[in-house]
Amino acid sequence: MNLFASVHDVTDIHQLVSSAISLKKKPYLDEQLGKHKTLGLIFLNPSLRTRLSTQKAALNLGMQVMVMNLDKEGWALETQDGVVMNGTTVEHIREAAGVMGEYCDIIGFRSFPSLVDREDDYAETIFNKFVKFCGVPVVSLESATRHPLQSLADLITIEELKKTAKPKVVLTWAPHVKPLPQAVANSFAEWMNKTDYDFVITHPKGYDLSPEFAGKAKFTNKQDEALANADFVYVKNWSSYNDYGKILTDGEGWMMTNEKLKLTNNAGVMHCLPVRRGLELSHEILDGPNSLVLNQANNRVWAAQAVLKNILLSC
Ligand code: CP
Repeated sequence: MNLFASVHDVTDIHQLVSSAISLKKKPYLDEQLGKHKTLGLIFLNPSLRTRLSTQKAALNLGMQVMVMNLDKEGWALETQDGVVMNGTTVEHIREAAGVMGEYCDIIGFRSFPSLVDREDDYAETIFNKFVKFCGVPVVSLESATRHPLQSLADLITIEELKKTAKPKVVLTWAPHVKPLPQAVANSFAEWMNKTDYDFVITHPKGYDLSPEFAGKAKFTNKQDEALANADFVYVKNWSSYNDYGKILTDGEGWMMTNEKLKLTNNAGVMHCLPVRRGLELSHEILDGPNSLVLNQANNRVWAAQAVLKNILLSC
C-alpha cells in the first residue's frame, strides 16, 4: 500500500483488522521496522485523536514524527493552479507538498471540505493535489469526503465486541449547531458496506448521503424503526449533501438517549468524537456502560499502526 485514502486502497480489510488486533496485543513487535524513517503529520484543520494516535502508532513502529499545523504555522497556501499569486497566498501546494516529501518517508494529511463547492469537495481536489506533488506515500488524516483511519478503528471496535457473526449496525444522524462534513458518515458507510453486517442508515428528510457512499445500506427516516434490535448504534451529525453544507432542521427528538437504547439489543453506542454532550448524545449514554467512544479512540492507535506497518513493508 502506498496510499490510504479510502477502503478502496485496502486489498483485504479482514487482514488489516487482524493486523491491528495483533499490534494491540504486541505494540512493539515491529519497533525496528520504522527505524530511520520519518512520518510527517500535516494538518489544515484541528485534531486531538488523529494527531496523538497516529503519532503514538508511528513511535511504536520506531519512526520519527514531525507534526505541523500548516494552517496556523505555515505560509498561506495557494491551492489553485495557474493563478498569479499577487494576493494573500504565499506558497503554492505544488512546492509545499514537494518540500515535505523531501523530508518525510510517509505523510499524513488532513484537509476538511469547504462545504460550499460540492463538486470541488467531492473531487478531493486539495487532498489529491497533495498526494500528487509530495511524491511519497500518504495516509488520509480525514479528507473532504472520508475519514478512513476512523472507520478502520470503528470496524476493529465492532469486530472485537460483536456477539453475533452478522451484527445489526445502525448509523443515526444526530443534531448539531454547526454544519459538519459528511466525511465520517460517508466513510463509516463505505466500510460497513464492505462487511456482511445488517447495516441501516437513519436520518431526517434531506440528509441523504451521496449514493456512492450509502451504497447497499438499508434506509429509513424512522429512527425508532432503525434502532429496533440494533447491536451497535453509530451516532453522528452531518450537514446536507443535496442542499450542500446546509443545516435543514434543529433535529429535535433525534438525540440518542437511554430511552431509545431500550429499543435496541442493549447496543454499544459509538461516536468518533469530539461529541457535543446533551445535543448529539445524552450525558447518561456517554457516562454509561453502553458507550464505546473510548474503545474507538483507543483503536485509533492500532488502526494507524496497522496502516503505517503495511506502508513501511511496501516502501
Ligand atoms: N475523531 C477524530 O478524528 O478526532 P480528531 O478530529 O480530534 O482528530
